[in-house]
Amino acid sequence: MTAAQLPPGARVYFPRGSALDVLRCKADEWMLDGPAGTGKSRVCLEKLNALAEKYPGCRLAIVRKFRAAITETALVTFEQHVKPRCDTANQQRRVRQSYQYPNGSEIVVAGIDNPVKLMSAEFDAIYVQEATELSLNDWEFLSTRLRNGVVPYQQLFGDCNPGPPSHWLKKRMDAGLTLRILSRHEDNPRLFTSRGELTPFGTSYLARLDKLTGPRRDRLRNGKWAAAEGMVYDAWRDDLHLIDPFTVPPEWRRFVVIDFGFTNPFVCQWWALDGDGRMYRYRELYRTRRTVRDHAAQIRALTGSEHIEAWVCDHDAEDRATLEQELGIRTIAADKAVSRGIQGVNDRLVPADDGRPRLFLFKGALVERDPLLVDEETGLSDRPTCTEEEIDGYVWAKGANGETLKEHPVKENDHGQDGLRYAARYADGFGKVAPITRTTTRPRSVA
Ligand SMILES: Nc1ncnc2c1ncn2[C@@H]1O[C@H](COP(=O)(O)OP(=O)(O)O)[C@@H](O)[C@H]1O
Ligand SMILES: [Mg+2]
Repeated sequence: MTAAQLPPGARVYFPRGSALDVLRCKADEWMLDGPAGTGKSRVCLEKLNALAEKYPGCRLAIVRKFRAAITETALVTFEQHVKPRCDTANQQRRVRQSYQYPNGSEIVVAGIDNPVKLMSAEFDAIYVQEATELSLNDWEFLSTRLRNGVVPYQQLFGDCNPGPPSHWLKKRMDAGLTLRILSRHEDNPRLFTSRGELTPFGTSYLARLDKLTGPRRDRLRNGKWAAAEGMVYDAWRDDLHLIDPFTVPPEWRRFVVIDFGFTNPFVCQWWALDGDGRMYRYRELYRTRRTVRDHAAQIRALTGSEHIEAWVCDHDAEDRATLEQELGIRTIAADKAVSRGIQGVNDRLVPADDGRPRLFLFKGALVERDPLLVDEETGLSDRPTCTEEEIDGYVWAKGANGETLKEHPVKENDHGQDGLRYAARYADGFGKVAPITRTTTRPRSVA
């Protein structure tokens, strides 16, 4: 029977290429690595479902760094396409703890951000979606949870889109500790026919990926572990500066930095300073096409009773006035000087004598992803959706002869970068002047 002859809604899954390798693989640790949309997550979920069916009473897990991110990705595919033979109606996806199979098998759903369910049980297989989000510590922690012994082989596996070549996961695959299985667009029957011809959907999907730029294009379109060229913050390292969130002690200083935007994103970053002057972005809004008034309401709700010592703003007088009025606050004008700000950020990114940098971004600090920045079809964004996603693409401009212009970053997708600069300048002591109250004229730029 071909797919076309099946009744609508019937369950069809024809594995191909790397998907077949995945279903047969018995290695204790492997990774399915490839560009976006090749069918990686689908086959990993198919594998879990097949194990659950084949080995009654086994315990499996679907894991991601943050539990909240699984709801709209893996669980939708799992319930709509893989269609497990268990009751999926009795519980909302958002709060789902596990899938219970009639044969006693169980698939637990958990995030590393709340590992209680992972700590309290042992597993036969764990699937990590978007494994590059994890730290090596997280990965090693998961490997200690595999001792259930119902399936004859115990597996820790995952899928990922390529990241920077310096990533621990790439190094681990290169060292042969994690078996690497390469996934290609040709493996996905939605994109290519069995004769290797593009389907109409495949044509439009790949055209969308072709629109990506910089290292994201290399990674998501071509599957390469590519580094960015000419990055302004060449000291930036995901594994050093992007850290797991912790509860910010109430006595730490806090301030907020705002870069206004409507067509471009409006960015609001909440920062905390520890006793040694290290700065931590612990919350972020990054949204397009909303009024300052709407933002203000959300900022008020998110800030709650936190004591914010300063509101450091981009210079738009009208937007500042609106914000001050809505929040009942006074704002101060940010130091917008580009070179000085970049220097300030860079100085903080470079590890100090104690080996630690002085600027950190909490992982998962984004309050909500702006749906207007995400392509419905691919689930990808051809623009960044938060500050950390901008950093790779924040590069020096090139001169007419291709030479790098070290004073001038390309003015594109840099709204969170503006915030970073303002924040570093404020943390370094700029702006502790008498706050400027509601201005009727545009304040003179300090740049
Ligand atoms: N063998 C297959 N048959 C039918 N649809 C597939 C197959 N493999 C993948 N798909 C579909 O293609 C889409 C992209 O797959 P997904 O697993 O999310 O890709 P990735 O994780 O590689 O980005 C999903 O809608 C998925 O259900
Ligand atoms: Mg996926």
